[in-house]
Amino acid sequence: INIAKFQGDLLKWYGENKRDLPWRRERDPYRIWVSEIMLQQTKVDTVIPYFERFMSLFPTLDALADAEEETVLKAWEGLGYYSRARNLHQAVKEVKESYNSKVPHTEEIHKLKGVGPYTAGAILSIAYGIPAPAVDGNVMRVLSRIFLMKDDISKVSTRKKFEALVEEIISQEQPSDFNQALMELGALICTPRSPSCLLCPVQAHCEAREEGIQEQLPVKIKK
Ligand code: ADE
Repeated sequence: INIAKFQGDLLKWYGENKRDLPWRRERDPYRIWVSEIMLQQTKVDTVIPYFERFMSLFPTLDALADAEEETVLKAWEGLGYYSRARNLHQAVKEVKESYNSKVPHTEEIHKLKGVGPYTAGAILSIAYGIPAPAVDGNVMRVLSRIFLMKDDISKVSTRKKFEALVEEIISQEQPSDFNQALMELGALICTPRSPSCLLCPVQAHCEAREEGIQEQLPVKIKK
């Protein structure tokens, strides 16, 4: 694979086809953080109205830190997985108290409750422009096809392999666009079933497509 060409094809497509999503309009780390937590177990279309409402209720990190947990959980009602909201609230309070209300962009980010490797990478790349990998299930699906990776994606060791791969191929100039382009490709083109390979901007780089086994990937053994 020619990495420069791959990046170019992917970024060009993203520039022309990205959805106008509320958290893509500016890069406040707090807003990016909230969006990524909401998007973890919930679809984009469902998240949008919740995100807008949450941001009008708690427009800044301090506003969320100062809110009562009850109020925060009320705003989360309908999104489910309430531990996400509790962890987010706790971590935001920690950022206000220990980091002067600035979301850390160093190793410290990994200490925040509810911020796993994916969320940390998303915040670092999207909000801070740092070339960090943000590998979730969708990104693993896309990359397993392009690079013909047949390891079981339910294993932590496989996610780490994908993170190492992204560190090799991520655009140093546009890490935010690069990571979000992989997410967007997974959402719009490289879908779990019947991927739209004919419309895919990186079809020429895709090893699974070349072998005709794109629908058999990724390999996922555990439920
Ligand atoms: N899913 C997770 N993060 C996302 C983002 N930043 N944009 C679109 N979909 C996403």
